[in-house]
Amino acid sequence: MTPVPRRVTLRPMTEQDLPMLHDWLNRPHIVQWWGGEAARPSWDDVQAQYRPSVMAAEGVTPYIAMLGDEPIGYAQSYVAVGSGGGWWEDETDPGVRGIDQSLADASRLGQGLGTLLVRALVARLFEDPAVTRIQTDPAPDNLRAIRCYEKAGFAALRTIDTPDGPALYMVQTREAFVEHARRVA
Ligand SMILES: CC(C)(COP(=O)(O)OP(=O)(O)OC[C@H]1O[C@@H](n2cnc3c(N)ncnc32)[C@H](O)[C@@H]1OP(=O)(O)O)[C@@H](O)C(=O)NCCC(=O)NCCS
Repeated sequence: MTPVPRRVTLRPMTEQDLPMLHDWLNRPHIVQWWGGEAARPSWDDVQAQYRPSVMAAEGVTPYIAMLGDEPIGYAQSYVAVGSGGGWWEDETDPGVRGIDQSLADASRLGQGLGTLLVRALVARLFEDPAVTRIQTDPAPDNLRAIRCYEKAGFAALRTIDTPDGPALYMVQTREAFVEHARRVA
């Protein structure tokens, strides 16, 4: 029998997802790379920071990544310009979007799902003709994430200082996306 190809899709996150997200954001493999112990969110924090209406007011869109019917991860995209809080203060291009993502289940890391998730999110964002470039900013020592983002078509430009500490600034232009899609087709 021919195996069914794995396909990761994204759906908008809703308020009903918040208890699941609270569980995920407290798992050690996510806490490690999502702000560390100091940023481990309580239930009140999750309700205050991740309610979709609150995020929308800040230019952030939250998603749940799905493998078939199964929720497998959290992702968010944001408009870089005007992020506030010391983030992306030099950015002037309103077409730049940023992305962050994590898989929910530690036993599923390193199996290619993250690459599928990131490609799905990048493709979704570039459906908007106003989007010029997508950025992501893993910690410089998060080698698994960096490799995943390279496989999904991002190029590492330089190490930067962010309000969360040093990060590797990685970008994918629309031209690189089109070229990457052509090569993997
Ligand atoms: C980051 C994340 C979404 C990537 O998803 P993933 O499914 O694990 O990634 P993939 O399997 O698609 O790709 C990972 C690649 O890194 C490689 N890798 C794994 N551990 C590595 C390490 N310590 N050093 C270097 N490469 C490593 C894998 O072998 C794979 O590359 P390959 O296919 O060339 O062999 C996922 O690992 C995750 O949720 N991590 C925990 C939270 C996190 O780091 N979030 C991101 C914050 S920026």
